[in-house]
Amino acid sequence: MQIGPYRLKNNLVLAPMAGVTDLPFRKLCRKLGAGMAVSEMVSSNSLLWGSHKTRRRADHRGEPEPRSVQIAGADPRMMAEAARHNVERGAQIIDINMGCPAKKICNVMAGSALLHHEPLVGRILEAVVGAVEVPVTLKIRTGWDTEHRNAVAIARIAEQAGIQALAVHGRTRACMYRGEAEFDTIRAVKRSVTIPVIANGDIGDPEKAREVLDYTGADGVMIGRAAQGRPWIFREVEHYLATGTRLAEPSLQEIRDILLGHLVSLYGFYGEHSGVRIARKHISWYSKGQRHGAAFRSAVNQVDTKEQQLAMTKDFFERLANREEMAA
Ligand SMILES: Cc1cc2nc3c(=O)[nH]c(=O)nc-3n(C[C@H](O)[C@H](O)[C@H](O)COP(=O)(O)O)c2cc1C
Repeated sequence: MQIGPYRLKNNLVLAPMAGVTDLPFRKLCRKLGAGMAVSEMVSSNSLLWGSHKTRRRADHRGEPEPRSVQIAGADPRMMAEAARHNVERGAQIIDINMGCPAKKICNVMAGSALLHHEPLVGRILEAVVGAVEVPVTLKIRTGWDTEHRNAVAIARIAEQAGIQALAVHGRTRACMYRGEAEFDTIRAVKRSVTIPVIANGDIGDPEKAREVLDYTGADGVMIGRAAQGRPWIFREVEHYLATGTRLAEPSLQEIRDILLGHLVSLYGFYGEHSGVRIARKHISWYSKGQRHGAAFRSAVNQVDTKEQQLAMTKDFFERLANREEMAA
């Protein structure tokens, strides 16, 4: 897939997820097969730019190209300024969030709330595209609610404004995360524009990725929640799309090594105090579905040092691997 001057190594994109797609997780997903990883959202409110959190979100050390940074907001001038600010700090693609249903975002009339206001969408997109030299991409939902699925109209506005790729989550804003994502609207969007379209929503395994690509005709797929605790899903999908066969599941030893490496990079990025706390949700995701996972999670969530967290995690996966070996 080509986005502006960037030719991605495949058509698999890690979805932006606030609180999840930080630099350590993006780097890990890229290493394990994602062609691109979109950063957590950065507010267009410049009052927040000095904050520790926002500055950390603009950290791209060691991140492979292209570095895509998502911005959110409803004021064209502020969005243009936010885009420039992030490009100065290393963003190579600016992604605009019009897909997030979170109240915090929608109440200030940004994220997916904007889909209701087509002329304003056009003004925001034109302002951002005009403000920076780098490609600008857009992420939307299929519409405001099931009676107002205007993704096709928004896609046309986006193409007209110079947007270079469009990701569509197959739910309306009103759907939040309920029900199943639908792909008819994404298919209609793909047929109505010539820019790359990336299909998103409930893509949880390689077969689903194949099915969605075939059905919608989309140029790529974007995967969010299914990568939590399974960052290797990208190589699995890549392999399946190339060969039609399933790659073997990673061994417990490999999962252990990926997770331990992930933890070490979280400590390095956030420092020990925050790193240990942020790591807890990742440990939960990696251990979901494993035998005795619940007992392990409640124990590992009690510890506060990186040494203890690493040792308990290593021990848990080693025991699982030994048990598996004995059973074999
Ligand atoms: C924890 C979490 C945080 C998210 N944060 C953002 C965000 O900051 N910006 C955005 O455009 N979408 C955000 N999303 C939506 C995802 O990018 C994606 O569209 C959605 O999860 C559907 O894809 P999936 O079924 O593959 O998870 C978030 C989703 C989750 C679960």
